[in-house]
Order: sequence, then structure tokens, then C-alpha cells
Amino acid sequence: MRAKLVAGNWKMYGSLAANLTLLTRIKDGASGRRCVLAVCVPFPYLAQARSALAGSSVAWGGQNVAEHAQGAFTGEVSGEMLAEFGCRYVLVGHSERRALYGESDRTVAAKFVQAQRAGLTPILCLGETLAERDGGITAAVVTRQLGAVIDATGVASLSRAVLAYEPVWAIGTGKTASPQQAQDVHALIRARVAESDAAVASELQILYGGSVKPGNARELFAMPDIDGGLIGGASLVAEDFLAICAAA
Ligand code: 13P
Repeated sequence: MRAKLVAGNWKMYGSLAANLTLLTRIKDGASGRRCVLAVCVPFPYLAQARSALAGSSVAWGGQNVAEHAQGAFTGEVSGEMLAEFGCRYVLVGHSERRALYGESDRTVAAKFVQAQRAGLTPILCLGETLAERDGGITAAVVTRQLGAVIDATGVASLSRAVLAYEPVWAIGTGKTASPQQAQDVHALIRARVAESDAAVASELQILYGGSVKPGNARELFAMPDIDGGLIGGASLVAEDFLAICAAA
């Protein structure tokens, strides 16, 4: 049976003072829970996350990683650097990175490779825009995004990764995919992986992200192929994040 994972994506929010309260509350609220919790914080706060969460059941990670191991790449942060700060996870290919920073499927695949080289577990984000959904090409889009990674590094690499299905139209909009809409895409993703490796597919954690809140988490997480959530806005409120964890 696949364990549930609830990961927070803080995006570009936070301050040293606010983080301390949030991290302490999450750490205290997480003890004794069965679901795995993680927070993906802005780079400057990794040291703070490490000192607040070390020794607890809550993992931490970054929101992006360079596509190269090291070199003259001003402003970039390598997988090794994230690993040095104790990160377990790193987001790769979030739709905001794809749309606002021009990350192609190829770039995302290179980042995925670098994350794994550094011993991190990439959380690979996949998802279609509203226009793509309306155009009936959701399956083609997520298959293409996933295929780029499988082509670059092989299906076996997914046994050391997590996937997150995040329909772009559901992110930060308050519009959640219905549990059945999400389940349909999760099942399709798992089936696509199973075509190459059934064992990897059955163990693969596939998270749902997009306006997950305490009020809708339970029915989303009850679907057979939804193995937890990637949480934006609600991960900034300790009570909401912990309530989502309780739903998992
Ligand atoms: P919201 O939960 O704020 O919709 O954000 C989802 C997301 O982008 C997580 O990566």
C-alpha cells in the first residue's frame, strides 16, 4: 500500500518571523501522525527549516533546482547545495516555472536528473491549462510532460520520485478538480507508467495539487490513485495544513 504524502509549496511567501511560528506549529502538530509531511520553502529559508524541523517527522525541500551540477550559472542553486541543507525533496517542473520562466519539458527532465544525482527525491509536476483541457488534450499534455522525463532517464528513475498532477486552472483559483476528474488523470498517468513498468507504477506516489483545502481534501484523498497532495495557499496556515494532513 502506498503511503500518503502531503507537501506544502510555500511559493514566494514567508519571513523569518512568520516561518518560525508556522514551522513550529507544523512540527508540533505532525508528531504521531501517519501521513508523511513536507514543506518546500524558498531557498533562503532552508537553513531555518532545517533547524526548526531536524529530528521531527516533517521533511523539507526546495522549489526548484538547477539543470546543471555546478558551474558559471549566476543565480542558480544546485542539487548538491539543496542536499547539503538536508532537503529530502525538490519540486521540478511546477507550472509556474514552466509558464513564467520558460522551462521546457527538456529543461524539466534535466532538473529531474540533477535532483536525483544529488540524492534528492524530485516531485515532478504535471498538468494542463484550461485551454488544453477544453481542447481535449489533457491526456496528451501530461503524457508528453512525463514522457520527456522517462525518455531522459528511464522509467526506473520514477521509483525514486514523486509525481504531482496539478491542473493549471485549479492552482490558486479556488477551483478544484472534482475528485473524479483528478482520479481520471491520476489513473491515466499510472497506466502510462505501467506500460513501461508495472511494479514502478503500483508503488508510485501521485499527489494532487490545485486549491486543496481542509474542506475538500478528504474526498480527493479517498480516490484510489490519489496518494496525497501538493498544497499551495493552505500550506501557509498551520491549522489548514495539519487538517489536510489529518484527511490523508
Ligand atoms: P494552491 O493550493 O494555492 O492552489 O496551489 C497549488 C500549487 O501550485 C502547489 O504547488
